[in-house]
Amino acid sequence: MNQKVYSRIAGTGGYLPEKILTNADLEKMVDTSDEWIRERTGIEQRHIAAEGQTTCDLAEQATLKALDMAGLEASAIDLIIVATTTPDKTFPSTACLLQQRLAIHGCPAFDIQAVCSGFVYALSVADQFIKTGMAKCVLVVGAETLSRIINWTDRNTCVLFGDGAGAVLLEASEQEGILSTHIHADGQYEDLLHVPSGISKLPSSDSIEERTMNMKGNEVFKMAINTLSRIAKETLEANGLQKEDIDWLVPHQANLRIINGTAKKLKLSADQAVITVHKHANTSSASVPLALDEAIRDGRIQRGHMLLLEAFGGGFTWGSALIRY
Ligand code: UT7
Repeated sequence: MNQKVYSRIAGTGGYLPEKILTNADLEKMVDTSDEWIRERTGIEQRHIAAEGQTTCDLAEQATLKALDMAGLEASAIDLIIVATTTPDKTFPSTACLLQQRLAIHGCPAFDIQAVCSGFVYALSVADQFIKTGMAKCVLVVGAETLSRIINWTDRNTCVLFGDGAGAVLLEASEQEGILSTHIHADGQYEDLLHVPSGISKLPSSDSIEERTMNMKGNEVFKMAINTLSRIAKETLEANGLQKEDIDWLVPHQANLRIINGTAKKLKLSADQAVITVHKHANTSSASVPLALDEAIRDGRIQRGHMLLLEAFGGGFTWGSALIRY
């Protein structure tokens, strides 16, 4: 009988641009306060890419760290998937640009666009490739320069987001790794969280509102809370597991109140949720791999621990992954 194949995490890496924008800095830009931002979101600061620094630049740095942790050469990679909403160019994909930086040639490389759920989507796709024997070593990256699609005069959105990248190397293994992934979308909520213009729609818009992120925050908040607890339940049921079996919640970092609400519904203690939102703000597809990398590097997440990764974002899209680290 053939041995079951799992996608096992071989290494992780994270990268944040040098420049930090604090709540105090934002107080000088829009009508807001450090107190409001902390109380409503938990955010204290965010990192912002330097002029000319691109999503691929951030992705490359995170990837080099993941390769180093895994003790692998880039030549071992046989598939690259980059989740991003802020690609360097219309085309080629950021994954192709990243492949070039790594000086490898020929392996498939493509981007996934699922906004804040992008990394979980990419992880799910990577897992299918490994389970079916189509790939043995997959680089999965979530990378964003969201600062480029933010209206810095809109207090409803500009305080919430930051730039960054997180990378994970998955290897085919007979030892347990990703146990299941669950991804969903519902396009009827398009207008609650979106950038109105793009390449095909309103391509030459010079309206700042059309070129940047628009969000009906409160409605998104309610949907996120309900959807995330539903997907956690779906994930545990699919694996015949109980809430108590989870060691770590590695959530999308949009709002501390959403993370705490989800952890509470899972009966997890506050410190079983990996939290980076206070330092990074919402980095969309980069937020889950950045949080994962941080908790692995500081020793909280240990081999054998059970991890629940989850995310919710524009689309709406949402997803989860249950992983034995
Ligand atoms: O990653 C993708 C998924 N995204 C999310 O999950 C984000 C979900 N949404 C949220 O995290 C929250 O809804 C926000 C943090 C965006 C907003 O918090 P809220 O508690 O839902 O506030 P609100 O939108 O209901 O606004 C409350 C008040 C409003 O004033 P009035 O109308 O009550 O006078 C806003 O104008 O807060 C005001 N406000 C601000 N005040 C100071 C909104 N933004 C700010 C601000 N500073 N930056």
